[in-house]
Amino acid sequence: MSDFSKHILVTGGAGFIGSHVIRLLVHKYPDYHIINLDKLTYAGNLENLKDIQDAPNYTFVKGDITEADFILELFRDHDITDVIHLAAESHVDRSILNPMEFIMTNVVGTVVLLNAAKAYWSSNFEGHLFYHVSTDEVYGSLGETGFFTEQTSYDPHSPYSASKASSDHFVRAYHDTYGLPVVISNCSNNYGSHQFPEKLIPLFIHNITNNKALPVYGDGKYTRDWLWVNDHARAIDVIFHTGKNGETYNIGGFNEWQNIDLIKVLCKVMDTKLNREPGYSEKLITYVKDRPGHDLRYAIDSTKLKEELGWEPSLQFEEGLEKTVDWYLANEEWLNNVTSGNYKAYYETQYAQR
Ligand code: NAD
Ligand code: DAU
Repeated sequence: MSDFSKHILVTGGAGFIGSHVIRLLVHKYPDYHIINLDKLTYAGNLENLKDIQDAPNYTFVKGDITEADFILELFRDHDITDVIHLAAESHVDRSILNPMEFIMTNVVGTVVLLNAAKAYWSSNFEGHLFYHVSTDEVYGSLGETGFFTEQTSYDPHSPYSASKASSDHFVRAYHDTYGLPVVISNCSNNYGSHQFPEKLIPLFIHNITNNKALPVYGDGKYTRDWLWVNDHARAIDVIFHTGKNGETYNIGGFNEWQNIDLIKVLCKVMDTKLNREPGYSEKLITYVKDRPGHDLRYAIDSTKLKEELGWEPSLQFEEGLEKTVDWYLANEEWLNNVTSGNYKAYYETQYAQR
């Protein structure tokens, strides 16, 4: 008999958000066994978890969520009691270049996991949970006003958001059809340490450091709602433990920024940190061709999560941004490692014709 009270399968734990979730769970719940399943794609990096890799309640397994036999075997080998599913292809621009990988991992991979959970827990679903981590992008785009609530209809525009929307529908279908215990959360844009430098904030930190152009899509007036990644991890912890079976929870920071305003603040922080003269980094701003299907504005209403489960963001954006910049500047080796190899080829394809 195992001494652990739960054996939680976390998928995508070597990625940006997954690594923060794993660190939180491993430290906070020594009586849970955390099994991190990750394919280690370009976005997965075991360096992200170096500090907890030898913890007695942590196990890493390299593998692909689309491989059904292997996944069922994994449930049996580790007697999985719960799933927190984060593994995904996560970058919108890459989904425009290559949609098939998004359909395979985000849709097929999710259904493979649902099938394994349904089969392995079939004798009694009680005491088990399939937690699906999703995005606000499934709701599409807002105009100048309003918020996404849990009742907002789905209206995805990119291959990425369409694949995430599809996976959300499958999770709900397994709950409604088979009674599988599930929760879903839809979160806004995350920022923080260990994010791959293809996403806006780490990409621009990397480019400013290296005196490279800052490619602003379109007029830069697109709006995103930014949340510190550790606050997302805290929300996942709260929802996992106290969320209601079958429910959806929106997670966001009530922290909207037009891209260009955020970029200017980031430039100022970088000038200070790098001892550059004021205004130096802003000169790197270069307006480039827009992202096709670019959603104008995202803004999350997370009132339900606050009122029902008591979660609130812990950090102001300016403080979180400075912490994030400090981390990247102190971890140049991490950045150099992830930007060697295939990164250059991706960068050239993505930005060459813009
Ligand atoms: P990420 O790209 O940093 O990490 C994804 C991880 O999944 C990587 O470690 C990768 O190796 C792994 N992975 C990919 N395909 C796999 C496969 N077939 N089998 C096993 N592992 C595989 O992504 P992230 O930004 O950390 O996002 C994590 C989750 O949160 C995703 O589901 C994403 O849709 C969602 N989300 C992200 C944000 C955000 O701002 N980044 C916001 C809301 C929701
Ligand atoms: O809203 C949640 C989503 O946030 C997550 O589901 C996604 O996984 C995550 O990647 C993120 O999607 P975005 O497309 O909003 O993030 P990204 O960092 O790619 O872009 C943020 C904004 O900045 C967006 O309006 C596009 C713009 N942008 C981005 C890049 C990479 C630029 O102007 N230039 C760039 O080079």
